[in-house]
Amino acid sequence: MNIIDQIISNYSNNKSLYIGEKVTMSEHMIQTAMLAEKTNCSSNLVCSSLLHDYGHFILENPDDLVTKNQDGKHEDVGCLFLEKYFIIDVLGPIKYHVKAKKYLARDKNYYKLLSEASKISLKLQGGVMSKEEAKKFETNKFFENSIKLRKFDEIAKKPDLKIKSIKDYKNLLTSKLI
Ligand SMILES: [Fe+2]
Repeated sequence: MNIIDQIISNYSNNKSLYIGEKVTMSEHMIQTAMLAEKTNCSSNLVCSSLLHDYGHFILENPDDLVTKNQDGKHEDVGCLFLEKYFIIDVLGPIKYHVKAKKYLARDKNYYKLLSEASKISLKLQGGVMSKEEAKKFETNKFFENSIKLRKFDEIAKKPDLKIKSIKDYKNLLTSKLI
């Protein structure tokens, strides 16, 4: 099976809920991509949004024990797998979307709005970013798009929202292959 069909099949078959939320992992990622489209983001960022939690699919797959050794860092696991197939501009915001959360959480108002599950995972991800780390992150090539992705990520958890099918993204996915 080629990678695009593999992705479509994974999204179509996924029934597990996004950690602590009321939508499935695929619904969550499709909602994230739809938010990127709604705000006229680049097609690269729409594709990053669509694939941003792909690492969770891999971590869930018992056949992939080697990748499982990655400390459960889903952003790294996802990128490690996806980098074999997708262009760097799609991968960047995926790699840094957890860092973006740690960056944004320095703002107390942002932190308060995080869901309970998201607050718990923030702790596991090392907590709020230090001032130094934040300054450095601001110079990252993917800083802005990672922050945008993170903000879509945060609200893409609406149950009963009418969403697109993963198949609607087949052309987009194909256009971002290496
Ligand atoms: Fe997410």
